[in-house]
Amino acid sequence: MTEPHAIETMLLEERRYPPSEEFASQANARPGIYDEPFEAFWEREGRERLTWFEPFSELYEWKPPYAKWFLGGKLNVCFNCVDRHVEAGNGEKVAFHWEGEAAGELRSISYADLQRDVVRFANALKKLGVRKGTPVAIYMGMVPELPVAMLACTRLGAPHTVIFGGFSADSLSDRANDMECEVLITQDEAWRRGTAVPLKKVADEAMSAAPGIRASVVLRRTGNDVAMHEGRDHWWHELEEGEPDDAASCPCEPMDSEDLLFLMYTSGTTAKPKGIVHTTGGYLCGVATTHNYIFDLKPESDVYWCAADIGWITGHSYIVYGPLCNGATSVLYEGTPDFPDKDRWWEIVERYGVTILYTAPTAIRSHMKWGPEYAQKHDLSSLRLLGSVGEPINPEAWIWYREHIGGDRTPIVDTWWQTETGMVMITPLPGVTTLKPGSATKPFPGVSAGVFDERGNEVGPGGGGYLVLKRPWPAMLRGIFKDPKRYEETYWSKYENVYFAGDGARIDRDEDFWLLGRVDDVMNVSGHRISTIEVESALVDHQDVAEAAVTSRKDATTGEAIVAYVTLKSSAEPSVEKLQELRDHVAKKIGPIAKPANIVFTPELPKTRSGKIMRRLLRDVAENRPLGDTTTLADPTVVNEIQQRAEDEQGADEA
Ligand code: WT7
Repeated sequence: MTEPHAIETMLLEERRYPPSEEFASQANARPGIYDEPFEAFWEREGRERLTWFEPFSELYEWKPPYAKWFLGGKLNVCFNCVDRHVEAGNGEKVAFHWEGEAAGELRSISYADLQRDVVRFANALKKLGVRKGTPVAIYMGMVPELPVAMLACTRLGAPHTVIFGGFSADSLSDRANDMECEVLITQDEAWRRGTAVPLKKVADEAMSAAPGIRASVVLRRTGNDVAMHEGRDHWWHELEEGEPDDAASCPCEPMDSEDLLFLMYTSGTTAKPKGIVHTTGGYLCGVATTHNYIFDLKPESDVYWCAADIGWITGHSYIVYGPLCNGATSVLYEGTPDFPDKDRWWEIVERYGVTILYTAPTAIRSHMKWGPEYAQKHDLSSLRLLGSVGEPINPEAWIWYREHIGGDRTPIVDTWWQTETGMVMITPLPGVTTLKPGSATKPFPGVSAGVFDERGNEVGPGGGGYLVLKRPWPAMLRGIFKDPKRYEETYWSKYENVYFAGDGARIDRDEDFWLLGRVDDVMNVSGHRISTIEVESALVDHQDVAEAAVTSRKDATTGEAIVAYVTLKSSAEPSVEKLQELRDHVAKKIGPIAKPANIVFTPELPKTRSGKIMRRLLRDVAENRPLGDTTTLADPTVVNEIQQRAEDEQGADEA
């Protein structure tokens, strides 16, 4: 856990960036915001930030480890994100400046447009029997129709699960089956770096393993031919034909504050992803409130861009629900940062006058690698605030981001949170917080975080241990879908009535938090969460693999890179082709993001006498570190052999 280098940077990192007077004087957050009692804070935000059909009667209920928020309240997420802005006279305001990957493909979608699109599509979904409570799976790229599909579901009260477009057919069917989805929304193909990604083809494979899906809706995006299954598959545009698009034709379903809004599947420490449960009122209040203060959003003048994918929680909370609830104007971009060239993002910032940019350290490090000349080609002076999320940001990347993108002027908010927390939990507030490169600084107002030692004692300033959250918050997960035992064990068994986040952290003398990475078997590759066991299961699923152990090493761009140690069955021979075959197999089982960067073939894996694979040792090998204690190994010579093979492989890599 406590990576020695992280502690060193923390100790050496003494640069401080106090807020400028100019920023502070106009900021949404005022210093006093931390002094308000947490009940009063959330009570006010809940009442004022959301529009309720029926007001809530109780702020929250906490029966550990289960929380409810805004009890008795009735509301609709789509109403809050779309309709009320139109009713308030802001229909002409742009909700999304959408930019397709191909040059010149631009669409600006106003709130009134969005309302018409959502209503028409919701009416179309009704024809397929989608109504309050119908589980819907969504498997799409970054097209405007993705938020339209999500909002149409929320309008009808149908819970959704969005599956990232890079996931495989197996990943898609596993999730759809777990949630018992009845309808799947997808598209023919998606554009990615100039090539067409065959989403419908993958969806077909998934649907053949997910018999509960009785209908699919297919958006025409690339226009290339795809197979349509008679009676099951419907073209989006055909299904919509003749459907009314006025709000009254499809009223927003009043939902209970605690009704299921969506599931987001995420990796845990077993092979089976967890369906993280998010409900309606608390989630919306949490994401809208944090979005307002952390990004200092001025809906009248800001152009906000979160460059994540909607297929992850970051996109749900900070592209779709938080910003729309706040009436923001956002950028939505379909493609990659280096297509057609490495200045694509900066071209977009200049074109729309983006004022707030939120991205991940891995993306910043890619831009660093490409060099500042790409940013220098464009006028980035509109930017006034930058954000970072997904993994600890190293001070070098922080400084580069500030200097080369932020013109040495903009605050940077390093936001710590998780799929489970739904909303940002530890973060600076721009205009209030003194920034330190590499530190996420303080718990958000109304949030109580701490660092505990192994035995549950709070460590004081200067100490390190496990990050915990000490009281419930509105957007917190309500459980793991259909698995209360796993919910209780994963988050609530280490400490009593305190949420265990699975991250290592330190608190410095100013009581600022420094995040140190995961302490469990979860890896973080380019800000994406992947479990070692998931990749191991994918590998042993291959006919030639006897055993596999997966770990990670540090990587300058992706944060961590996956390293797999594989023992082949005696019928198979290690070869470069076999290696490629195994990498492809993992991509097929999980998705390309889970492909191991290295595979080391080894005749045996290091195990304890009780047969447990010693991942820690493998990690040391992967990192080229001196080996820790090997005395519990059943056969200590195995490690030397593996080390030798790993070195050979590295030599071959460099050659
Ligand atoms: C894990 C959650 C929710 C955002 C996207 C990732 C790591 C996230 C930071 C940060 C250090 C961070 C943690 C966390 N993480 N943000 N600012 N500093 N670490 O969501 O896939 O649920 O992963 O990402 O390890 O536990 P996720």
